[in-house]
This record gives sequence, C-alpha cells and structure tokens, in this order.
Amino acid sequence: MKTLELISRITVYEDRNELPVEWQKLLDFAHTAAQRAYSPYSNFKVGAALLLNNGEVVTGNNQENAAFPSGLCAERTAIFYASSQYPEVPFNKLAITAINPMEKLTKPVSPCGSCRQALLEYEQKFNQHIEVLLAGEEGEVYVLKSISDLLPFSFSKEYLP
Ligand code: THU
Repeated sequence: MKTLELISRITVYEDRNELPVEWQKLLDFAHTAAQRAYSPYSNFKVGAALLLNNGEVVTGNNQENAAFPSGLCAERTAIFYASSQYPEVPFNKLAITAINPMEKLTKPVSPCGSCRQALLEYEQKFNQHIEVLLAGEEGEVYVLKSISDLLPFSFSKEYLP
C-alpha cells in the first residue's frame, strides 16, 4: 500500500494592484465581460478573458436560460467561442472574475468542474499550459500555472480507445 499526494500550487496576490500589468489588463477585460452577463435567474455575473498566443483577447460571460441546464458558464462561453474563431491558436492566459450584486465578492471565484474539464481539453490539444487568474471583486487574487492544477487526476483522451 502507498499514498499518492497531488500538489497544486497557487500564487496569492494580496490585492489586484500587486499583479503584473498584463494580468491587470486581462482582469479588466474579464470584469467588463462579467458586467455584460445574462443571468436573470441567479443574478450572479461571471466574466472570463482569454489571452491567445496571437495577442487577441476573447471574452465570455455566463448565459442563463429559463430551462436552467440550457445555460452556459462564462469560461466555456469564452473558450468555445475562441476555439471556433481561432482553431489553430493556443491559449496563453485566462482571467476569471465574478460580480455578486447581493454581496461584494471578497474571495476569488473558482470555476465549476465542467468548465475545468472543458478548459483542460485545450491545454492538452495545444500541449501548452494555460495560466489561470481567479479574482473576486476585491481582496486576494490567485494565479495558477496550469488548468491541470485545478483538475488533478483528470479524465482525458489517453483513456479512450
Ligand atoms: N457560473 C459560471 O459562469 N462559471 C462558473 O465557473 C460557475 C458558475 C455561472 C453559472 C450560472 O449562470 C451562475 O454562475 C450561477 O451558478
């Protein structure tokens, strides 16, 4: 018998003003995207901004639906659109943030499991890590080197016949 340990590293910035300028800009894009979310049912607004290897920034936000499961999270809206527009361009960085109109978000938002799985697909497609930034409306900001740090021991095409 043995025990395996899975370690994910998170760099914690005390405040967004501590971030490198490139991250600050991407976070601004994500925040603007969050403001445009269509979320009449949850009122929770999420924004995602992807920096592509070609310098383009593609953003997305959550899109809800009266038939609840038909909606889509911000992260998948962004990455599916980016992949449909630039199928051959790898993704370099992803910033995710959210707005809760009821109560200011003071800790970083964390992507759902389905989004983690969807994001990981593109990291593996291009064999290039996507750095991730997670932020609330204020307070600490987390930066991770790779989507795989958010989803250790994941399912992937290696398992498929
Ligand atoms: N949501 C996202 O957009 N991304 C996540 O990673 C978690 C949740 C959205 C889905 C729904 O519109 C709202 O937040 C509340 O769950």
